[in-house]
Amino acid sequence: MKVVILDTPTQVADYAAELFQQQLQHKPASVFGLATGSTPLKLYRELIKRQHGGLISFNQAQSFNLDEYLGLAATHPHSYSYFMQQELFDHIDIQASNTHVPPGDAPDPEAACAQYERAIEAAGGIDLQLLGIGRNGHIGFNEPGSAFSSRTRVAKLSPETMRDNARFFSQDQRQPELSITMGIATIMAARQVILLATGDNKAEAVQATVDGPMSVDCPASVLQSHPAATVIVDQAAALLN
Ligand code: GLP
Repeated sequence: MKVVILDTPTQVADYAAELFQQQLQHKPASVFGLATGSTPLKLYRELIKRQHGGLISFNQAQSFNLDEYLGLAATHPHSYSYFMQQELFDHIDIQASNTHVPPGDAPDPEAACAQYERAIEAAGGIDLQLLGIGRNGHIGFNEPGSAFSSRTRVAKLSPETMRDNARFFSQDQRQPELSITMGIATIMAARQVILLATGDNKAEAVQATVDGPMSVDCPASVLQSHPAATVIVDQAAALLN
């Protein structure tokens, strides 16, 4: 596992954008695993800038998002599908049919999970997987205790994650407790993984990921055993390292 500590969140975004650019240069039809949350926003803005500047193109690329709230349709403003449209897909040249987010409104979620795994496999697997991290070390919605062998499945959010994500929901909006998430083994199957973390509220999770034992107590620590994982953090998130 490579750890890169940079001064600011902007430098973290630029470093990650460079890895996306290299990946696209090497393989224009790359398959990206994408993440939501506030952390990747700066990276997405940088990718949009680079695409508009002609440095990169997603025209042949495909994407698979990590997770989605169960019960929210893609049109729901709090769905991760909607987030991806607003923050990235609407602004780059990726083909709509090449973007994939787990279907939160699937009538048969279990079947949808199996189908998502098959779709990733049919695309040739993920070349570059982007991750954020929860304060409890979760990746996607793989909360502490998630098996390292887990695949895309329905998973319950921990009370801590429910609290952390409550800020996105107003009082009259029901916050889903369940999600569809890629599993840890799904994430680990990606050829390259990059995890971004910024801000001092992520310092404990980063320390457990990088220095702690590899344990289901900190799901992101599994990346210690990935052959090509890079953890890119700012000074604040690296405070305890
Ligand atoms: C959510 C997502 C994760 C994300 C995490 C951190 O729970 N399921 O994929 O990494 O939030 O979000 P943020 O980047 O906003 O701190």
